[in-house]
Amino acid sequence: MEHFQQVEPFDYVIFGATGDLTMRKLLPALYNRFRMGQIPDDACIIGAARTDLEREAYVARARDALQRFLPSDILTPGLVDRFLARLDYVTLDSSREGTQWDALKSLLAKAQPDRVRVYYFATAPQLYASICENLNRYGLITANSRVVLEKPIGTNMATATAINDGVGQYFPEKQIYRIDHYLGKETVQNVLALRFANPLMSAAWSGEHIESVQITAVETVGVEGRAAYYDTSGALRDMIQNHLLQVLCLVAMEAPDSLEADAVRNAKLAVLNALRPITDATAATETVRAQYTAGVVGGENVPGYLEELGQPSTTETYAAICTWVDTPRWKDVPFYIRTAKRSGRKVSEIVVTFRPAATTMFGETPASNRLVLRIQPNEGVDLQLNVKNPALDVFNLRTADLDTSIRMEGGLPFPDSYERLLLDAVRGDPVLFIRRDEVEAAWRWAEPVLDAWKHDKVPMQTYSAGSYGPEQATQLLARHGDTWHEASE
Ligand code: BG6
Repeated sequence: MEHFQQVEPFDYVIFGATGDLTMRKLLPALYNRFRMGQIPDDACIIGAARTDLEREAYVARARDALQRFLPSDILTPGLVDRFLARLDYVTLDSSREGTQWDALKSLLAKAQPDRVRVYYFATAPQLYASICENLNRYGLITANSRVVLEKPIGTNMATATAINDGVGQYFPEKQIYRIDHYLGKETVQNVLALRFANPLMSAAWSGEHIESVQITAVETVGVEGRAAYYDTSGALRDMIQNHLLQVLCLVAMEAPDSLEADAVRNAKLAVLNALRPITDATAATETVRAQYTAGVVGGENVPGYLEELGQPSTTETYAAICTWVDTPRWKDVPFYIRTAKRSGRKVSEIVVTFRPAATTMFGETPASNRLVLRIQPNEGVDLQLNVKNPALDVFNLRTADLDTSIRMEGGLPFPDSYERLLLDAVRGDPVLFIRRDEVEAAWRWAEPVLDAWKHDKVPMQTYSAGSYGPEQATQLLARHGDTWHEASE
């Protein structure tokens, strides 16, 4: 099958190989693609981390991770063994120099020097530059090497610039793959298909017909074992500066000439550059930040953020922002973005609300058409239309849903977004990765919001775990004459 074509043999070196991301996402994703036949038998996956482990012990951890994070029916014993045979491990503090690099060097020396090498940085971003420095010091950067950078790329413009400069000293931009796993999600990519492959949509895709856009990604989990990271980050840096702005870009961008990486990235960048800057004054009216307090999620009592943390904190676990894209297409169209930890549900969706039909013939204003793109769960598209209320002799209107689930052939679950992206890095296709100027433009927009929050221009609100969020977020939309999607469901 075309889309499961085998990639060329490669070495995949994962720094941070004992961490949560590697165990939960990267190894399961690679296993799945191995199972599909996309990863050749002579590919190598080399884990590198500080923990002193023999290869066998690392393989045992990897086996355990596959069992924990993948459904048992896809873990065919022979196949798992063949996959694990591809795995190696080196004990390495990648930010320091020394003889500890010899083991990695000799593992990589086994292959042809022109073989594709992917260095995946699943470590703290502060280490990215020094890892690159060491890769260079030990002669491990080849023409066919690429580096995959996990977010967050910095915590503001200055730190992002330092990281990008540090990596850029050793890798040219075309060899740098900044991953944003939302771009690997099927429905996120589907925004392009829906908008540009359907004249019905393209014709209506502007402020002339669209009244507002909502982009939501809320989840039931709290900060769990990640409090140390999360408390330095918060909802805006963790989800909005990257994932949700990327989604916004796909919704708002002008048609790129092609699906070539730079065409798409230029179109996204133009949106980021057109985002209306938020000032202290507008932050006060157009942004909401909040922390969850104790509540009930999925029938279970859960503690509040501060209790979980065990110390005071001014980090937000909820953020809602109304922003504007200052281009002719989006004149007068608010874009509402929100994200939350410990929400009552896990939902990521894009909701496009159209302007109501300007007709008086029904004696009532028809409801606005709404297009809901469900990123997760139950990936699909729901278009809410007005129809005649069939039960009545009189002519009045009700809403009907044209609802389609987007499914894989055979009803199989969607591949995890990391699968596609991990192999795109091997294939050398950067279209679903973020270019440096996009990261910077996103910080340019986000930083004033963070500053306004830091200087208390916007009060910290609270919301009960398991709720839809603070009342102030409802009021934020009410001021624009709008409601959040769940309020109208
Ligand atoms: C990650 C964030 O990037 O995305 C997490 O760091 C968040 O805090 C996760 O939970 C959400 O991803 P998804 O795919 O579950 O929506």
